[in-house]
Amino acid sequence: MLYDNLTVNEKGHLTISGIDATELAAEFGTPLYVMDEDVLRANCRTYVKAMYEFFGSESAPLYASKALSFKGIYPIVESEGMCIDVVSPGEIYTALAADFPAEKMFFHGSNKTDEDIKYGVLSGIGYFVVDNHNELEVLDRMAAELGVKQKVLLRLTVGLDPHTLEAINTGRVDSQFGVPIDTGQADDFVKAALACENISVEGFHSHVGSQIFESDSFNRQAEILIEYAARMKEETGLELKVLNIGGGLGVRYTDRDPFLDIPGRIAEIAEHLKGACDKYDVDMPVVFMEPGRSIVANAGVTLYTTGGTKEVKGYRNYVTIDGGMTDNPRFALYKAEYTVLNASRMNKSADYECTVAGRCCESGDRIAENVMIAKPERGDIIAVLTTGAYNYSMASNYNRIPRPAMVMISKGQARTVVKRESFEDLIKNEL
Ligand code: LLP
Repeated sequence: MLYDNLTVNEKGHLTISGIDATELAAEFGTPLYVMDEDVLRANCRTYVKAMYEFFGSESAPLYASKALSFKGIYPIVESEGMCIDVVSPGEIYTALAADFPAEKMFFHGSNKTDEDIKYGVLSGIGYFVVDNHNELEVLDRMAAELGVKQKVLLRLTVGLDPHTLEAINTGRVDSQFGVPIDTGQADDFVKAALACENISVEGFHSHVGSQIFESDSFNRQAEILIEYAARMKEETGLELKVLNIGGGLGVRYTDRDPFLDIPGRIAEIAEHLKGACDKYDVDMPVVFMEPGRSIVANAGVTLYTTGGTKEVKGYRNYVTIDGGMTDNPRFALYKAEYTVLNASRMNKSADYECTVAGRCCESGDRIAENVMIAKPERGDIIAVLTTGAYNYSMASNYNRIPRPAMVMISKGQARTVVKRESFEDLIKNEL
C-alpha cells in the first residue's frame, strides 16, 4: 500500500488506521474527506524535530494553511509547535476563530488589498511577507496610523526553475510573486523597505515551487539568498535575522513517486545554508520553512460511492463517482495523478482498467485516467488516496454540488470536523 496507515481487514475492506472505510462511508455518507490525525501529527513532528536539530531551537516550520484550512486544523498544528502561513484575511479569520495566536502567523499574498493590510495589522500578525513596492507603501502608512512597528520579511524570487507542474512553479524570475534578484529590482525593494519608519525588516522569504523531489533547487536557493544577504549587508547594513525558504517538498501520490526523506532533505539544506554563511561571512539566520502538502496530503483519503461502470466499446471503461472535480479539481487543473482503490473489494485483483469520472456535466470532470482497480458494482466505495492537500481548500459548488463533510480519525475513533454542506447552505447568501 502507498502508506502504512492503510491495510485490508478480514472482510476485504480498506481500513484507514484500523477503521473500515466502508463503515465510515455508511456512517458519515459520501463523498467524505477522511483525515488521519495521527499521520498529520507525525508529519508535523518530523518537521519540528528536524528543523530544531539542523537549524537550531528558534527555527520552526510554518504550516501553509492554503493546503487545508478549517478551524480544526489550527489547534493541532499549534500543539505540535508550528507557526502558520496565511494568505488571505479569510485564512487569518479562520485561524483566529480557532484561537491560533496572531503573532505566530506569517501573512502572504501577492496582492493584499488595503483592507487586507489593515486587518492583518489590527489582528497583530507576527510577520507580513511583503510581496512588492505597493504593499510596502500601504503597510508603512497603515502601521504608522495604527501605531505599530510591523515586522516583515521581503519576498524575493531567486530565478530557479524546479521541475514541477507549470502552474505551481513560483520561483522563476517571470512570476507574479515577489521581487526578482536577477533583474536588480530586489535591491531597490530592500532599500525602500529599510527606509520605511514603521517597518522592521527581519529578513527574506522565497518559495521555489511545490511537489518538488529534487534537492538542487533548495540547495541553490539557500546559496543565492545568502550571497544576496551578504551583498545587502555590505550595501545597506541589513543584518539577516530570519530566512524563510518556503514550502514545496513532494509527496507520494502513486507508487511511481518516491518516498522523500524529509529530515535528510532538511539536513542537506542546512548544510548548504551553513556553507554559504561561512563562505559569504553572514551569521546563520533563524530559518523557517512553510510545508503545506507534506503536512496534510498523505493524511487524507476521499471516499466516494460509485454509480457503477460504463464501458464504451472500443474506447474505455468509466467508473462514476458521487463527487469529482468539485471536491478535488486537481486532475482537471493539473492532470494530477492519484492512486484509486475499490475499498469494498480489496481482496479482488485490481484488473479493471478505468477512468474515474465525477458527476459534473463536464467531460474534464475526472479524478484519474487509466487506473487499475477491482471491478466495482454500483454502491461500492471508491477510495482516492493522498487527498489531504489542495482538495477541500480548492473545492467548489459547481453544478450546485454541496461540499463534502470531513471526519478526523484518531485511535480508532472518527469525529466530524467539517459538516456536509446542505442545499440551504448553497442559497444562504442569495436574496
Ligand atoms: N509557501 C508559499 C509561499 C507557497 O506559495 C506555497 C504553495 C507553500 C508555502 C506551500 O507549498 P507546499 O509545501 O504545499 O508545496 N494548488 C496546487 C499547489 C499550489 C501551491 C501554491 N503555493 C496543487 O494542488 O498542487
